[in-house]
Amino acid sequence: MSSLLLFLLLLFVLTLASTLEFRYHTNREMEQYLLQLTASNPDITHLYSIGPSVTGQQLWVLALGLSPSRHTVGIPEFKYVANMHGNEVLGRVLLLQLIDDLVRGYRNNETWSLQVLNSTRVHILPTMNPDGFDASNTDCMYSQGRGNYNGIDLNRNFPDAFAGLRRQQQLDEEKREAEVRAVIGWLRSESFVLSANLHGGALVASYPYDSSNGGKELVGGASISPDDDVFIHLAKVYSHSHGSMHRGYHCGDSRPFQDGVTNGYQWYPLTGGMQDYNYVWAQCLELTLEISCCKFPPANQLPALWMENRKSLLAFIQQVHLGVKGRVFDGSGVPVQNAVVEVKGRSNMCPFRTDQHGEYYRLLLPGNYSFTVTYPGHKVLTETLNVPHGPDHYSAMKHDFMLRLIPTTTGRTQARPTNANHNQANITKGNPSTTCNYTIHLDSGGDVSRCTWTGLGVGLGLVAVLRSLIG
Ligand SMILES: *[C@@H]1O[C@H](CO)[C@@H](O)[C@H](O)[C@H]1NC(C)=O
Ligand SMILES: *[C@@H]1O[C@H](CO)[C@@H](O)[C@H](O)[C@H]1NC(C)=O
Ligand SMILES: *[C@@H]1O[C@H](CO)[C@@H](O)[C@H](O)[C@H]1NC(C)=O
Ligand SMILES: *[C@@H]1O[C@H](CO)[C@@H](O)[C@H](O)[C@H]1NC(C)=O
Ligand SMILES: *[C@@H]1O[C@H](CO)[C@@H](O)[C@H](O)[C@H]1NC(C)=O
Ligand SMILES: [Zn+2]
Repeated sequence: MSSLLLFLLLLFVLTLASTLEFRYHTNREMEQYLLQLTASNPDITHLYSIGPSVTGQQLWVLALGLSPSRHTVGIPEFKYVANMHGNEVLGRVLLLQLIDDLVRGYRNNETWSLQVLNSTRVHILPTMNPDGFDASNTDCMYSQGRGNYNGIDLNRNFPDAFAGLRRQQQLDEEKREAEVRAVIGWLRSESFVLSANLHGGALVASYPYDSSNGGKELVGGASISPDDDVFIHLAKVYSHSHGSMHRGYHCGDSRPFQDGVTNGYQWYPLTGGMQDYNYVWAQCLELTLEISCCKFPPANQLPALWMENRKSLLAFIQQVHLGVKGRVFDGSGVPVQNAVVEVKGRSNMCPFRTDQHGEYYRLLLPGNYSFTVTYPGHKVLTETLNVPHGPDHYSAMKHDFMLRLIPTTTGRTQARPTNANHNQANITKGNPSTTCNYTIHLDSGGDVSRCTWTGLGVGLGLVAVLRSLIG
């Protein structure tokens, strides 16, 4: 074959690959699609794995943004996760379409896509449970393939902040599933700000908490978090931007949902869920989006279901720009990790802390808020901020906090704290039975293995293209 012919064939295949069919791709096809996409768009995409499933299939995440392979100070990290229940498959199709849409929009200089990718780093995990997907049948209602390869429901396998320290230690000794370990490691590796987890079997946007220990969080049958106002807003953004979710249709078997939103616990309590874990332990606000009554909709309905969800998927990403963001600097002007940044009236179980870049992100509705910043060796700083609505212009309000040293008698500054584990925090406030000072021990595997594909992806993508040419 002449090299010109080969080149033309390659170009042809790359063009074909740029329109994604509306059908259920196998895990292997999905992997190939992501590899090809990354190979042809290395400037705005970055493919990485957060670890293997039980049978060793990689949990691929595609990151999109102007700096897709690393964090940029001031650019919030957003994520979507789908197919955690292997037989709830619409989310996986929609997230692949979303990837395709964002990349195509960017390549065509469409403002909406440029704005998203210019302001946000979007991470997409189309399947958190590839083994369950392989085992599922195409039934609307039943749950074959819901669990992972070991038959474990991954949305019950996370540490539960309400379950008490004893229970946590017990769970640690039991096996935490590979897919859950991978996600816990992922949450430690990036400071995510906002997230949604896509499910099927209902049509509703559900928000934390899912769990409770019967404490003061229980209000009128709901388990209410300190950021309830923000969560309700986020859920309504999804349901009202969606073609029909806001009408509150109940899929025949449960009660109707006002505005198409619900508190998780109020709908039905569950422990070990992923959304509470994200919020309590990783300071990432996460929603559980139930996006179709039928868990495995017929393939010919996929284009219409995409049209119902497209606007809401994009509008929800934009909400990552609510509130305030910035850095905390110590007395010598250096950004500091683990400074506690609290908002008056919002006593989070684990107080929000600055990340390794000294950054904080705090999603808030417009209004005046009193912030308190605490860091060892420094005076407690309190400032009131007038917070505007950020999503319209793709940026939260920017505000840095400048701490001042407490002078010591010896004239030396006090020791900085060591880089404490991200999941360790101060529990003297709030509910004393919570466990946020408890460090989660990951099972045997220890740290999650991470493969990155930026450079290698180009080569492998071409190999994949060539392989598909051969047959
Ligand atoms: C998009 O804009 C860039 C720079 O302005 C230009 O080079 C490119 O040709 C444009 N692409 C399309 C598809 O219009
Ligand atoms: C990209 O972001 C910068 C600020 O970070 C802004 O000045 C610029 O207008 C943005 N471009 C687009 C296309 O949104
Ligand atoms: C916030 O405070 C400013 C004065 O600093 C005031 O003008 C404004 O009305 C307040 N906004 C709200 C929502 O209370
Ligand atoms: C924990 O919080 C309490 C009350 O706000 C405070 O007095 C104490 O210094 C904090 N401890 C740490 C280690 O941050
Ligand atoms: C948190 O845990 C550390 C060590 O595990 C312990 O020294 C500290 O006293 C605990 N803090 C609280 C507030 O319980
Ligand atoms: Zn589900």
